[in-house]
Amino acid sequence: MNILVTGGAGFIGSHTVVELVKAGYSPFIIDDLSNSNESVLEGLKNILGFDVPFFNADCNDFEIVDQIVKENKIEGIIHFAAFKAVGESVEKPLKYYRNNIGSLLSILEVMQANKVRNLVFSSSCTVYGQPDFIPVTEDTPKKKAESPYGNTKAIAEDILEDVIKSGENVAMISLRYFNPIGAHESAEIGELPNGVPSNLIPFVTQTAIGKRAKLTVFGDDYDTNDGSNVRDFIHVVDLAKAHVSALDLLKTKENAFYDVFNLGTGRGNSVLEVIQTFEKVNNVKLNYEIGPRRAGDVVKIYGNVEKADEILGWKTEKTLEESLRDAWAWELKLKNNKK
Ligand code: NAD
Ligand code: WQD
Repeated sequence: MNILVTGGAGFIGSHTVVELVKAGYSPFIIDDLSNSNESVLEGLKNILGFDVPFFNADCNDFEIVDQIVKENKIEGIIHFAAFKAVGESVEKPLKYYRNNIGSLLSILEVMQANKVRNLVFSSSCTVYGQPDFIPVTEDTPKKKAESPYGNTKAIAEDILEDVIKSGENVAMISLRYFNPIGAHESAEIGELPNGVPSNLIPFVTQTAIGKRAKLTVFGDDYDTNDGSNVRDFIHVVDLAKAHVSALDLLKTKENAFYDVFNLGTGRGNSVLEVIQTFEKVNNVKLNYEIGPRRAGDVVKIYGNVEKADEILGWKTEKTLEESLRDAWAWELKLKNNKK
């Protein structure tokens, strides 16, 4: 089955491409490299032993996506392509609405025009905001988004629901990711953020390797066990595998179908626990200090992931330790490549 992977050169997309091939699917990547670069394709080739078909294009462009879908007999789409920097989205909301909503609309129009039935969409735990109860289930009410980025995910989910309500015979799944971290065990692909990372783990690894002087922990006075925020950190390869499970399920649906799934470990770890675990498993010392809280941070969130286990037959296999070991191996590899 030929699968179009939008944003397939990105962090989660590239790991998903590997798992798709392992499961017998044929991925085709479309990525405009706005937040990735072509070295990812080299890494994929080193893992898979062949060149994954790649189109350097913007998936807001209906004509181009339409042509790729037709020429390659695409039967399913995994739509990762989006901008994801929460802070930037507050400063440049239109950039985020244009790209994240625009690209989804063009993908849905191309599906309609070509009778492509299957879509897996990258959503986020950000749709829950600061939840009243944890762990959050898929039925936990969505809250008003804290940022334009978060709002693009909430709106995108509403759009998919409306498409289903319109009676269109498509099968779609939104996957609500928690905090993906780590890298492929080969260290051939991993997380390659442009500029100064805003996410915790790339900041940790870049500090440990000396690219950054110091990590600031954003607050240790929250109402949690050790005062730092709690998150559900999921290994990116586990997350990638869930996309295969989602496609496997969609293929069985002959009638209109839409569902949402939390993808996490079901456990919460604090920022300070992550730092201590990173130091321990990699035997490195991290230069960090406690700083003020970051505006807009959720205090504590992790997912109930029973629905994915029951319906998708998926659950995580990798530990926090493995995630942090793989993230560090990837950072070391990047350093060696630059020598
Ligand atoms: P990423 O930035 O590494 O990957 C996204 C890829 O999409 C990049 O390679 C970028 O170049 C490409 N892209 C962006 N706009 C495009 C366009 N219009 N046309 C073609 N390519 C385009 O991000 P990621 O972490 O791999 O995230 C993938 C998806 O998962 C995104 O939709 C993101 O919002 C969502 N998500 C990510 C996280 C996270 O913490 N990483 C959590 C929840 C949800
Ligand atoms: C994790 C924890 C920080 C950096 C974001 C998006 C969310 C989803 C996942 C896409 C927090 C702390 C971080 C640092 C720190 N993405 N931290 N020092 O905020 O959970 O979620 O990514 O959908 O929408 O908002 O992830 O990695 O930024 O932060 O102390 O230098 O690490 O305060 O508690 P977050 P994160």
